[in-house]
Amino acid sequence: MQNQDRTPLLDVLLTRAKREVTSFHTPGHKNGQGIDPRLRAFTGRNVYKLDVTVFPEVDSLHDPVGPIKKAQALMAQAYGVKYSQFLVNGSSSGNMAMLMAACHPGDSIILSRNAHKSTLSGIIMSGVWPIWIQPKVDQHLDIIFDSDAQQVEEALRRFPEAKAVFVTSPTYHGVTTDLKRIAELCHARGKLLLVDEAHGAHLKFHKDLPMSAVEAGADLCVQSTHKILSALSQGSVLHVNSDLVDMTRVRKVLSLLQTTSPNYFILASLDAARRQAVFHGQKIFGRLMRMADEARERINRLQHVYAVTQGEIRAKGYDLDVTKLTLNVTRTGISGHDIEHELAAHYGIQVDCADLFNLIAIMGIGTTRQDVDRLVSAMEDIDRKPVGREKNWVMQLPSLSTEMVMTPRDVFLQHRAKRVPLSKAAGHISAQTLTPYPPGIPVLIPGERITKEIQDFLLDLAHRDVRVSGQETDTLRSVKVVITR
Ligand SMILES: Cc1ncc(COP(=O)(O)O)c(C=O)c1O
Repeated sequence: MQNQDRTPLLDVLLTRAKREVTSFHTPGHKNGQGIDPRLRAFTGRNVYKLDVTVFPEVDSLHDPVGPIKKAQALMAQAYGVKYSQFLVNGSSSGNMAMLMAACHPGDSIILSRNAHKSTLSGIIMSGVWPIWIQPKVDQHLDIIFDSDAQQVEEALRRFPEAKAVFVTSPTYHGVTTDLKRIAELCHARGKLLLVDEAHGAHLKFHKDLPMSAVEAGADLCVQSTHKILSALSQGSVLHVNSDLVDMTRVRKVLSLLQTTSPNYFILASLDAARRQAVFHGQKIFGRLMRMADEARERINRLQHVYAVTQGEIRAKGYDLDVTKLTLNVTRTGISGHDIEHELAAHYGIQVDCADLFNLIAIMGIGTTRQDVDRLVSAMEDIDRKPVGREKNWVMQLPSLSTEMVMTPRDVFLQHRAKRVPLSKAAGHISAQTLTPYPPGIPVLIPGERITKEIQDFLLDLAHRDVRVSGQETDTLRSVKVVITR
């Protein structure tokens, strides 16, 4: 058992920074001496002394034998996994790595269509066939649910050849699925369970938060330590949690994906964030949960704004990380985007994101009671001046159980494409990804046959000028399809 109080990587960097080492290595700012004066005036010089390059004293991310190896081992011990790998390009690189490590070109993987866009990148990089599960769209709460155990069981029954199952839990809205049951279903059939737990690095540290992916039995899992714990942006971790995973392949894949000049400030912040969460997580997250509950209570006394509750989510067979505040604003008659703008412009508050219906306010290890109070007070203010229009848009999604004709990788690498009018798209193979917001789920993926239902859905969006990400043209009048002859 190692001592979780230690921070080997942080220590070595801090000790070195105090020594005033003369740098003839990259980066060119040389311990901050050459940093632009305006930037240095704001930050001070010390922070740049942590920005070093790979040399034996500070170890190498790609071939760790010293402090990075020790820091990763402490991370693995804290989460109770076999091996943890630090990531400096966020869970985005972790998602790609999980897919590439678990699958070979031509394998198939079961996943829900609401997966983060980095998952599609991973599908392209790994050359797998995606088997899509239709996400559930809740038109009352205006949020999306990832796969539940029943959907996974059904998909495994229909597609016994699938190599693995990929699940996002918690989702952006903080909703977790029954990972324990899903892990049992996977392992009973010799399949791997990969979990995008980008929003759940803190779950392990309080017993009243939903069960974490590795505790539930996920084989591989990625966490954005920067989202809720205190690592710097981009600082994330990939955990290997079973003997079913080939560790050498995980390391090789990460060597393909990660820079050879990792930012040591980010790496050291992962080391420090782990120590902080181990020793103070229980207290901090207990306090955050209480603050979030109080905020929810105050918000739910309002007339036009509504905070999604754990009870409602549990009634649907899922669970909620209560530190996430998803505020439904449809009854104000103002879009979530406009309220996001209003909060930023007039109240000095920035939420994590917004859609037509909701604002997502993420609480983190640094959130204070005053912060929560400011947010709730601003929402109370906004609630007093609704414009009172009825909700005229419902969150909807066509059937996405489409036929994959080519792998997304083959379309990306090999195929020539042409544009066809949207009204004539049905029957063609899509060469692009089209994602309408809301609900932020791709209705077209490269390699799948465009159905009449999806064509009509897109025509309707085009008619109403709804923004569709990936459309590549000013208006959505045509779609890029694969030239087959
Ligand atoms: C569900 C989910 N997965 C993965 C990511 C990517 O994480 P990162 O920003 O650490 O690359 C995000 C980012 O918001 C996300 O919401």
